[in-house]
Amino acid sequence: MPASLPSKVVVRPLVERDLAAADRVIRLAFGTFLGLPDPLRFMGDAEYARTRWKADPSAVLAAEENGRFLGSNFASNWGSFGFFGPLTVDPEYWDRGVAQHLVAPTMDIFRRWGSRHLGLYTFPQSAKHVTLYQKFGFWPRDLVAIMVREVGDAPAQSLPDTQLFSGAPSEERPGLLAACREVSDANFAGLDLEREIRAVCEQKLGDTILVWDGAQLAAFAVCHVGARTEAGTGVCYVKFAAVRPSPGAGSRAGANFARLLDAVDSFARTAGAHTIQAGVNLARREAFREMFARGFRTQTQGVAMESGGPGEGYNRAGVYILDDWR
Ligand SMILES: CC(C)(COP(=O)(O)OP(=O)(O)OC[C@H]1O[C@@H](n2cnc3c(N)ncnc32)[C@H](O)[C@@H]1OP(=O)(O)O)[C@@H](O)C(=O)NCCC(=O)NCCS
Repeated sequence: MPASLPSKVVVRPLVERDLAAADRVIRLAFGTFLGLPDPLRFMGDAEYARTRWKADPSAVLAAEENGRFLGSNFASNWGSFGFFGPLTVDPEYWDRGVAQHLVAPTMDIFRRWGSRHLGLYTFPQSAKHVTLYQKFGFWPRDLVAIMVREVGDAPAQSLPDTQLFSGAPSEERPGLLAACREVSDANFAGLDLEREIRAVCEQKLGDTILVWDGAQLAAFAVCHVGARTEAGTGVCYVKFAAVRPSPGAGSRAGANFARLLDAVDSFARTAGAHTIQAGVNLARREAFREMFARGFRTQTQGVAMESGGPGEGYNRAGVYILDDWR
């Protein structure tokens, strides 16, 4: 740890009364780093702090000094995979070791969860960011494209074999969560999006779209829509999507990915969004190509940093997963 850390910095779990300060520092830190004229307008009316904290308060850390809020970090538990972010520090306190004091106990959270693989999304052009995360065992891997496309103008239609999680009776939900787990686990052993699906449903952040192949779940997409979610007004943000893998070129998985994107389009239109946003790691070549062919274009590019060696995790060709770990 650097010797320059302000002497009375305390890192502790973030509590509800910190949320306004955390939200402010997230906007101020990113807005300042990106050089926005009014840094606090970063992200518009989208938000991370409240929704992620509500989903799991024990996964969020705050740094403070003499009662002054300095920054925070949010960890996400996707079963065998864990990631952290947004990690932010008040710009007045940059380069004094505060971020490192937030990341070290975040790594303890992952150890407690037993996460098998870890990742994060960061700015590839920033030596500071890349070096900071290397100290904790992360290594830069593939680029991540945050892609956007306008919602199609075909009238909203109900697609065959497609369902929304929120529309299922409560007694059916455990079975649907298990079906989603089966799909994500088939891509990466132990990958489990239950917390995200529940958070979206319980906090009414959007919905989870389920696409069936007969009695088997073929694919699902966890979507945020609108203000005070991770999407923002007018946007449908695909936070995570996965398709059941199938071997061979021109495979069933490719066709099911296309069906899932159709279903996202239809859902977005019904929900009143004008734009769909989704992240895809460029190692997932087929998924990126299909997105591009459908008119999605890259709005921002980041880099995935990951624990473990090359080839570990689920960023590889043939994987139809959408996520970006922001
Ligand atoms: C990124 C951020 C969280 C870092 O917070 P911080 O408290 O300034 O970071 P720390 O002081 O703990 O660590 C920074 C490290 O990078 C090093 N560093 C800075 N510039 C560097 C450079 N050009 N090359 C290599 N290392 C560099 C620092 O020296 C320090 O390491 P050291 O303590 O060994 O000297 C903060 O700048 C921030 O909030 N940025 C805006 C939001 C953001 O980008 N969040 C992260 C998104 S992935």
